[in-house]
Amino acid sequence: MTVYRASACAKIILCGEHAVVYGRPAIAVPVPDVRSHATFTPVPRGHLHVFLDDLGEAWTWQENSPHPLAVVIRHTFAALGTSPLAGELHLHSDIPIGGGLGSSASVATAVVRVLARALDVDLSPARVAAIVYEGERIWHGTPSGIDNTVIAYEQPIWFVKGTPPRPIRVGRSLTLVIGDSGIRAATREVVGDVRRRWQEERETYEAYFDHIAHLVRQARTALEIGDIPTLGRLLDENQYWLERIGVSAPELERLIRAAREAGAWGAKLAGAGRGGNMIALVPSARVDAVVQALRSAGAVHTYRTTIPGEETAQ
Ligand code: MEV
Repeated sequence: MTVYRASACAKIILCGEHAVVYGRPAIAVPVPDVRSHATFTPVPRGHLHVFLDDLGEAWTWQENSPHPLAVVIRHTFAALGTSPLAGELHLHSDIPIGGGLGSSASVATAVVRVLARALDVDLSPARVAAIVYEGERIWHGTPSGIDNTVIAYEQPIWFVKGTPPRPIRVGRSLTLVIGDSGIRAATREVVGDVRRRWQEERETYEAYFDHIAHLVRQARTALEIGDIPTLGRLLDENQYWLERIGVSAPELERLIRAAREAGAWGAKLAGAGRGGNMIALVPSARVDAVVQALRSAGAVHTYRTTIPGEETAQ
């Protein structure tokens, strides 16, 4: 019996979340060491049984099911030009749900990849991202498309809603420490809440988004030339505007403060906010101290990741 396997990474929004929903640019990077996994064992006929192993959930795929993953599977079959496949599809993810690291897009990407692999079809990252977006719309309401895009491309991107992503040069390697506040917040609700506030105070929110767009452009330059201290300062600035927008939380702010005090260049919440994860940009020599400080300040989980820069290619 052949077993097909595929995986997909987690993601971090380095800067620009929320404003990106309103047409401003954002920068996102993959987290390759934290992943979702899909395993598919086909059988010649019968149904497709889907097992969400972490949730203890199992269902049989049906063409008209509204479940976001079932919709992704339907779009995958359509893109692959095949009638529905039968077999067992097992899904497992190391990415916390509702933590701002792209768990839904990551699981869905692993699903698309494993089904394509079973049919020996190579789908481009753009096509994978477009299929996964169909699930994201059901999960999250009005997503910008940044999560599914950075996960499908698995490289640092400059993203503006409705336009193809642009790969971003990283002049010098970055070390990020991610701290999980342990609080789960539904992206759909946070994004919906920001939309309501934007409708009520449009001018104020447009100004917030413009400030964020300005710092995201500066962050791009800092990233490209490898000016990491400036990038850190811009992450702090981004956090300031996210607080004004109303998507921060005291628990996140405690972690952010702890990371800064332990020597991070800068820190901010990452993703939709109100809970989930924060990120700190950290000099290599301070990584252990920052991890320790985050744990003492209440982080339920920490991850470290390095985004390779051009110097590593030499
Ligand atoms: C979620 O990872 C990022 C948000 O900007 C929503 C989106 O872009 O769809 C909060």
